[in-house]
This record gives sequence, C-alpha cells and structure tokens, in this order.
Amino acid sequence: MRPDLQELSAYYAAAPGDIALGDIDVARIPAHVSIIMDGNGRWAAKRGLDRARGHVAGVDALREAVTAGVRLGFDVLSAYAFSTENWRRPKLEVDLLMSLFAKTLVAELPLFHQENVRLLFLGDLKALPSETYRVFMRGLDETADHDGMTFALAVNYGSRAEIVHAAHELARLVRSGEIDPDDIDQDLFSAHLYTAGLPDPDLLIRTSGELRLSNYLLYQLAYTEFHATDTLWPDFTRWDMLRAIRAFQSRSRRFGGV
Ligand code: IPE
Ligand code: IPE
Ligand code: MG
Repeated sequence: MRPDLQELSAYYAAAPGDIALGDIDVARIPAHVSIIMDGNGRWAAKRGLDRARGHVAGVDALREAVTAGVRLGFDVLSAYAFSTENWRRPKLEVDLLMSLFAKTLVAELPLFHQENVRLLFLGDLKALPSETYRVFMRGLDETADHDGMTFALAVNYGSRAEIVHAAHELARLVRSGEIDPDDIDQDLFSAHLYTAGLPDPDLLIRTSGELRLSNYLLYQLAYTEFHATDTLWPDFTRWDMLRAIRAFQSRSRRFGGV
C-alpha cells in the first residue's frame, strides 16, 4: 500500500536525531514486516518489576508498531506473541498472557476499525482458553472486511507444528482422492500453512538481542532479511521501526541471483 505522505510526515515529525523519515525511501517500504517481540521479562527485571508488567508494557509497544505499520503503508504486519514452547512457562505467567491477549483484543478493536486493519491469527487457536478463543473469533469476524493493513498475530504458533499440520491436511486430500501426490508444489504447500494467502515476510525484526528463530516461520523466512536490535520489546518505538526499514533498504536482496 502507498503511505499517505502527509499523515506519515506528521506521524514522524519529532525525530530523535540519529534517524528521520528522510532516511528511508518511502517508495520501497517492505510489504510484509514480521516481529519476534522479545525481552518483556528482561525489561521488567531491569526495573525491579514483575514479568507481568513487562508483558503489559509490551502491549503498548505493539499498538505503536501497528500504528507505525499503517502509517508506513505495510500490507502485512505480523508479530510473534506466544509460541508452542511458551506453555513451558509458569502457569501464572501463561494465564496472565492468555487473559492479556483477550483483554487487549477487545480494547484495541476500535483502533482496528479506525485504521481499517484486518486481523488474522497464526497458530493452533483451539488449544487456547475458551474466553481468549471467543474474543479472537470475534476480532476475526469484525475485521474481516477491512482492506487496509493485515495484522497477523502468532499465538500458540510453532513452525514445525504448522508444517506437520500442512502435511496432515495434504495427506488427507491425497487419501480422499481430491489431489494427486504430484499436485503438491510450493504454492499448494504454502496454501496449507497458517499464513495461507499472505506474502512471505520481507523483513524480520527480533528485539532483545537474541539471534535465533525460536520456531518462527521456518518455511516462510527463506529469503527474508533479518534485523536484530538490542532494544527490549517494550522500548520499541516508531523510530526503531524506521531504523529497521533503513537497515532493510541498505541490503541487496539477490534471491540467489547475482
Ligand atoms: C516476549 O518476552 C514475550 C513472550 C514470549 C510471551 P519474554 O517474556 O520472552 O521476555 P524475556 O525474553 O524473558 O526477557
Ligand atoms: C520467542 O520468544 C517467542 C515469542 C516472542 C512469542 P521466547 O522468549 O519464547 O524465545 P526463546 O525461548 O528465548 O528462544
Ligand atoms: Mg524471551
């Protein structure tokens, strides 16, 4: 999508010094930006706060990222909120996160309407607590007709589980005679991933200095540019988004060519 340049300039008016809107080429904004939102716990620990407070602060950062994405004209913003491995955390933290997801989604629906954002979820939602699941379905339903940016939130998402799930679905289609094994190509395979219909990410941002994928979008990230920042997720601002795009635009994407 083309950004509205007037709105964008206003949004990025008070530049901090090391970065400004003029440092990026607004004609070459990545279409799909994905974020591994990491560091909430460390952000809280640094302040002597409970980890829960870090997650709550992380919601504010995500709201800003969504707004920045809309202003910059992303087609898709996706964000990793809870992995299939995160169930290993203490029950208290898992419960807090699940209720925070539900609460946040209800609170942010007006923003999604106002900004014409379509919501999607990536992951196995059936395993979520019923209230969280119910609210997610409501969010999907109420924003389905929005044709601005798509915001895809990965919750109970694991890339290996996603790939195995796609394999099961395709195997069933073969067994029922609907497709032939030779019909399975990359397009058909992609169409059975949770990200069906979305373009692959152009840019992946991971906060908090970690340099790993943690089971995120293993198939979809084949040619994605990575940007790692030491900034902890709750501290991530519209300016960090601009810094990530500047880094992205400085790369030469060759896709195997010369
Ligand atoms: C990311 O922050 C949020 C989730 C994984 C839910 P963390 O909770 O992983 O924060 P750190 O990595 O412990 O600092
Ligand atoms: C990755 O963060 C998952 C999310 C951001 C939701 P983690 O904090 O769970 O990743 P690891 O455990 O450090 O790899
Ligand atoms: Mg972490």
